[in-house]
Amino acid sequence: MRRVLLGILLIAGAAGTLLAADGEFSEQQAQGKALFEARCVACHQLPEPDMLTENQWKRLLQLMQKRMQQADMPPLDEEEFAQVHAYLASQSK
Ligand code: HEC
Repeated sequence: MRRVLLGILLIAGAAGTLLAADGEFSEQQAQGKALFEARCVACHQLPEPDMLTENQWKRLLQLMQKRMQQADMPPLDEEEFAQVHAYLASQSK
């Protein structure tokens, strides 16, 4: 019984996430969110998207590109940069 319940909760949760992703984010923002969660934890914890304004994010992302290059890590390409920025801008302060 516990297992069945857990299964139902998991399915409901997954469906909720999908719906939220569809409703709240554009395709570009959703890609950006995934990239942000995958790439921005390499050196430190994920920052809160609402800690900066849209413009501050742009400048900070440019600095992070430099940090990645200095660490011999491939920086975000142009499209990825735009995606991450679009996501952060949508959640910015
Ligand atoms: C190669 C390592 C590295 C990666 C990858 C990285 N950062 Fe950073 N980040 C740093 C370093 C180092 C600092 C400390 C500030 C400085 O010297 O640049 C920092 C600081 C920050 C800060 C704090 C700035 C402040 O004023 O407190 C934020 C926000 C941030 N990073 C966001 C990001 C985001 C968003 C990404 C993904 C696009 C990212 N970082 C990826 C190295 C990295």
